Amino acid sequence: MNLVLMGLPGAGKGTQAEKIVEEYGIPHISTGDMFRAAIKEGTELGLKAKSFMDKGELVPDEVTIGIVRERLSKDDCQKGFLLDGFPRTVAQAEALENMLQELNKSIDYVLHIDVDKEILMERLTGRRICKECGATYHLVFNPPTNEGICDRCGGELYQRADDNEETVQNRLDVNIKQMQPLLDFYQEKGYLRTINGQQEIDKVFADVNELLGGLK
Ligand code: AP5
Repeated sequence: MNLVLMGLPGAGKGTQAEKIVEEYGIPHISTGDMFRAAIKEGTELGLKAKSFMDKGELVPDEVTIGIVRERLSKDDCQKGFLLDGFPRTVAQAEALENMLQELNKSIDYVLHIDVDKEILMERLTGRRICKECGATYHLVFNPPTNEGICDRCGGELYQRADDNEETVQNRLDVNIKQMQPLLDFYQEKGYLRTINGQQEIDKVFADVNELLGGLK
């Protein structure tokens, strides 16, 4: 099962990815998570990515394409993969097509989680994430049972550095600009499936599951 999850910042890619990975057992490849891990480790990649992420800009294509190429060639991707947040530009999408061709693979579906941009600011500024296991919560839409504590592992919850109002606004502007050409690219290839992301989290997953059931 080779999948791509697309959607504007805050559409619910990470939230649905957690559920898809649990249900289907494929590796979750999030470029945002990979960059954040590199920043935490203080690597050269992290230093490069940080300056763009702090402003809500995209990390340059050549850097992003390089890390995905390396990740997709790992053994665990033999059984499939879930790309989350990549590709984000048509140049990245074209590079992905070439990579997959070299690896003798192809995409089954590009799942576009569709949400009106007006509600994304609230989703992102209210998001909290577990420091230990990475589980995602929302202060209003998906609160933990005990404030500030992860239900799953008891870890401490934190707010992402780029989830402040100013950076979120720029992330939204940047991503909205890139989105339509990418949707057109995948529509033309026949991979695109649109999911209504403005429903309850479990209902969104039910729709995803219904679609993916056919691939099992
Ligand atoms: P990345 O980490 O990928 O961030 P993003 O795309 O901005 O997406 P988010 O993770 O913020 O949102 P999400 O869709 O996963 O939403 P979530 O499920 O958490 O990228 C960060 C940065 O890295 C980029 O800005 C860029 O600089 C760089 N980068 C990454 N990939 C790149 C690439 N390919 N090229 C270049 N640069 C790249 O949900 C959000 C909140 O809403 C949560 O609180 C959640 O609980 C809540 N929620 C989710 N679903 C629902 C629902 N159905 N109803 C109500 N609330 C919901």
